[in-house]
Amino acid sequence: MKIRKAVIPAAGFGTRFLPATKAVPKEMLPIIDKPTIQYIVEEAVNAGIEDLLIITSRGKDALINHFDKAFELETILERDGKEEMLSAVRDISYKINVHFIRQQEQKGLGHAVLYAKSFIGREPFAVMLGDDVVVSDKPCIGQLIEQYEQCGASILGVQKVGMEHVSKYGIVDCENAGERLYTLKGMVEKPKKEDAPSDMAVLGRYIITPAIFDCLEKTPKGAGGEIQLTDALVMLAKKEKIYAYDFIGKRYDIGSKQGFLQATVDFALSRPDLKDDFSAYLKNITQKI
Ligand code: UTP
Repeated sequence: MKIRKAVIPAAGFGTRFLPATKAVPKEMLPIIDKPTIQYIVEEAVNAGIEDLLIITSRGKDALINHFDKAFELETILERDGKEEMLSAVRDISYKINVHFIRQQEQKGLGHAVLYAKSFIGREPFAVMLGDDVVVSDKPCIGQLIEQYEQCGASILGVQKVGMEHVSKYGIVDCENAGERLYTLKGMVEKPKKEDAPSDMAVLGRYIITPAIFDCLEKTPKGAGGEIQLTDALVMLAKKEKIYAYDFIGKRYDIGSKQGFLQATVDFALSRPDLKDDFSAYLKNITQKI
């Protein structure tokens, strides 16, 4: 079955970016001039996703406004012939159907994904987390969709993160099943270094079969007192085969300040309009460090 739908859980508090995230959703913080959520939505568009559900929460209406028509602004830009700005403001809203639902209480990522149950119905779907921005020739979620088309089972996007970082991620226990492809044997959420089965982390991209919803409904609170998607996937792995795919691309952990800064610098250096002046500035200040 074709993957047509994606879910972006974006209801979290974003505490690592307080006080910025007190009134502004974390997903609206820009990398240069584009909100981080738009990078994720563009990845979905480029991978052929047709319908997208963003899970929001109270105080995050800026996300809804961002994907709405900005009537007055668009009229003025049109009147003034500012075509480039006009397309920057409205293109994304025309390329994909964006739907929203509010998670009433932030009880965890698994709890947020469960809100997508009636939107998804009985088809396999993509889950994309805004904390991970991936730069790649082929969209990261598109790579997982291609793998799904081969094996017809849930696939988790993974990469090696190094043993020193395993306690920040869902870590997989898996065995090789082909080129960059692994069969999932188990998974642990944020393990201590000594308990981690590997250093392969699930990095915010998933293709999941609809059987996950039965598992989520039965998943008790786990790490951090939250309903964890990881625990539901472990349950699902007992019923169905699940794969992990080592996707190709540079991934930025923009949920952390370090990752956010790295993305900002790298993205600026790859932009023709910013590159020359900004690299000259960086060269100048690095001499002084
Ligand atoms: P995080 O654990 O990174 O939480 O959630 P957060 O609130 O976004 O950020 P910090 O850690 O407090 O800074 C991982 C993903 O799951 C979503 C978040 O929006 C994020 O995309 N999430 C988490 C929900 O949608 N609902 C929840 O109840 C929890």
